[in-house]
Amino acid sequence: MSTPHIDAVPGAIADTVLLPGDPLRARHIAQTFLDDAIQVNDRRNMLGFTGTYRGRRISVMGSGMGIPSTAIYATELIRVYAVRRLIRVGTCGGLGDAALGEVLLAQSASTDSHFNRQAFGALDLAACADFALLQSAVTVAARVGIATRVSAIFSTDTFYDGSSERLELLRRHGIRGVEMEAAGLYGLAMREGVQALAMLTVSDQLDHDAHLSANEREQGLGRMAQLALECALEARD
Ligand code: HPA
Repeated sequence: MSTPHIDAVPGAIADTVLLPGDPLRARHIAQTFLDDAIQVNDRRNMLGFTGTYRGRRISVMGSGMGIPSTAIYATELIRVYAVRRLIRVGTCGGLGDAALGEVLLAQSASTDSHFNRQAFGALDLAACADFALLQSAVTVAARVGIATRVSAIFSTDTFYDGSSERLELLRRHGIRGVEMEAAGLYGLAMREGVQALAMLTVSDQLDHDAHLSANEREQGLGRMAQLALECALEARD
């Protein structure tokens, strides 16, 4: 059996999946942190792997960019492969006092996407992280010495040509990070009754036009991957 977008056999994917946007990052995480990792998907080059981390079976797969791509993979992972826990490990643009390299744990994700409205009528869904997963990330981060901050973030459909008025509105609402996936992932997880959390390294400071180097992004991703894996060890349904 496979799905339109995932060519894996039943049981090949663990109940917890780390979701970086970039499939090559999925491969890097699997090669660096997982034992006995095997590749479970290469359809459309959206690489996915399953291995073990300190004895626990965990998968990591690319999600692609944006809510539509992420939702396709997350829906198939949940409905067909019985995935119960999805942890996005990505990057975001930082606003206000969000510092380059800082890790934000996204408590809520506002959005300009209509993805959740299509399932929630004309109402506004408060797309939020699973509390147990968020709490575990805060606790584990403190234990392993990774500085994180719980924050509201914004998921946008448009990477380019955002207006400064829009950014000011976001700042005024205490939003510190802008990315493109979490609101869809959270809304979907809420509807499907599974756990989701987005961890985001601030890779671009939008107020100061400052950016992490490729090396620094890599380091940030490694730290977050470790945090996500440690959270997965503690996770319960
Ligand atoms: N906007 C949207 N997504 C992003 C950004 C950004 O500035 N930086 C990293 N992901």
